[in-house]
Amino acid sequence: MITFMSLVAGYGRAGDILRGVDFSAAEGSITCVVGPNGAGKSTVLKACSGLLRPRSGRVLLGDEEIGGLSPAQILRRGVVQVPQHHGLFPALTVRENVLLGAYVNRRERERNRRRYEEITGVFPLIAERAGDRAASLSGGQRRIVEFARALMLRPKVVLLDEPTLGLDPKACARLADSISTLNREGVTVLMVEQNVRFGLTLADDAVVMEGGRVLHTGPADALLADPDMGRLFFGGAPSRREAS
Ligand SMILES: Nc1ncnc2c1ncn2[C@@H]1O[C@H](COP(=O)(O)OP(=O)(O)OP(=O)(O)O)[C@@H](O)[C@H]1O
Ligand SMILES: [Mg+2]
Repeated sequence: MITFMSLVAGYGRAGDILRGVDFSAAEGSITCVVGPNGAGKSTVLKACSGLLRPRSGRVLLGDEEIGGLSPAQILRRGVVQVPQHHGLFPALTVRENVLLGAYVNRRERERNRRRYEEITGVFPLIAERAGDRAASLSGGQRRIVEFARALMLRPKVVLLDEPTLGLDPKACARLADSISTLNREGVTVLMVEQNVRFGLTLADDAVVMEGGRVLHTGPADALLADPDMGRLFFGGAPSRREAS
């Protein structure tokens, strides 16, 4: 569904941050990108949503090249990004925030109203708190609203950057349910997650990045079961093999 081929990208006049990224996220799957701070994970998502223009290489949505298109053009093709830093308008209500997800199609009022009704069916929180200002929500509740907003345009692909950031375990569990629900609706999910265990438990496929490159791709459960995982991601004791 989404394929990155030899993707090179960076910011301003500085050097390349992504130095040839190759991987793909299969249609209907959940793919999780993990790796240390500064590995380029968010940069990959930005290159995919049009916030950053690739310097070379390709970003494909199905067969179509989307690398270098504007964020609005990419949005219209069904790729929506939920940013790493909270993007709700605190003074607007929950309902207004969700409806903003359809801003590019704002003239299609009837269609947007129907879609909003559908979304409140999937996320009861939205209906319960519809008239409350976003500022009055907890961090976990905000994440659900950001999510609901991303669904307004019936996306094919949702890009999630660190969805569990700042959430307690209970809110993480609810968020996992929301991501699974989204995925069952047929949405392809490409996510970046610092909480490696959370991300890999939820995902079908894993991508490990470091220094602007892909180190490893494979099934998420295999990576989770890998004895070296602890050493790689959880700062655990070195494996026995190494210690002896
Ligand atoms: N807007 C920007 N302008 C200049 N450099 C940037 C910008 N955003 C990111 N970078 C640099 O690009 C590199 C990769 O950043 P990126 O945000 O993609 O990493 P990440 O893997 O998402 O890290 P984290 O886990 O901390 O979110 C870093 O060295 C960072 O300093
Ligand atoms: Mg990041």
